[in-house]
Amino acid sequence: MMYRYLAIVLMFTGSHVFAEPLSLSVNQIRKDLAADVVDIKVLEQYEASEGKAVEVTYSGIPLEKLLQYLYPKTWDGFEGEIYFHALDGYLSILNTAKARQGEAYMTFARADGKPFIIDNNNQNEKDVPLAPFYLVWDNLHNPLLVGSNAYAWPYQVYQTELVPEAVVQSLLPPNASASVEAGFDAFRDNCLGCHNINGFGGKKYGMDVRQVIKALSREELYEWIDKPSAINKYTAMPPLSAGITGENRQRTISSIIDYLQAI
Ligand code: HEC
Repeated sequence: MMYRYLAIVLMFTGSHVFAEPLSLSVNQIRKDLAADVVDIKVLEQYEASEGKAVEVTYSGIPLEKLLQYLYPKTWDGFEGEIYFHALDGYLSILNTAKARQGEAYMTFARADGKPFIIDNNNQNEKDVPLAPFYLVWDNLHNPLLVGSNAYAWPYQVYQTELVPEAVVQSLLPPNASASVEAGFDAFRDNCLGCHNINGFGGKKYGMDVRQVIKALSREELYEWIDKPSAINKYTAMPPLSAGITGENRQRTISSIIDYLQAI
């Protein structure tokens, strides 16, 4: 009961009641956590090309150690999501359970002293700066982490934010249908990195997503999510992941629209 009430209040007050982004300083963290700095060798996902693995060793801090340091009162026992804000406005969302697996490292340099940059082969971008922080996963010891979409590698991370589960749930309207709930999950996985609701989410596209959709019909929304470039050749928005195909694609897009219309 309390929970539902909290959710309703959060939906309409329009403010961050609990979570505030915390800015990260490389110098401060290197100084305060000097004893926790480790070298971590990974298969560099962004630079891998077919059949060719690229190993890179980075210097960084185990993510859990960093979170304990950043949130001494909150991290232990905390449930919800960690937001990693990037300088380009992109937001990467990580469930706390994954952070507790002990396989993530927040890095700030290459161990060999070479420039802290990568080539992002997926997006055809060369010499992309990774600073201030770059989250990597120990995928040499856990092959399940290789190429898994569920484990993001955000770079240019400059802020973290702990978002409690109750706040996450507050983005779901009360009495949501199954399709609205499925749409909420799909929206978090595929859209919230760039778009925000009530200030929660990425800021790549500044306007609240509820404003953005107002002028669009269901058909227009469907087309836009499926293939934005068909509507605007120059759009910076990517289509819904090509990995979601066929009937599943139709269902996913429909449920995202159900969710957007419900909020
Ligand atoms: C990589 C960032 C990114 C992702 C991911 C993304 N968008 Fe966008 N979206 C944008 C940008 C940038 C625009 C601004 C329009 C442009 O650049 O053409 C936009 C515009 C829109 C618009 C407005 C279209 C219009 O006609 O004004 C809608 C609606 C929208 N996005 C919905 C979504 C939904 C739903 C998802 C998830 C399936 C999503 N977006 C995923 C970046 C993104």
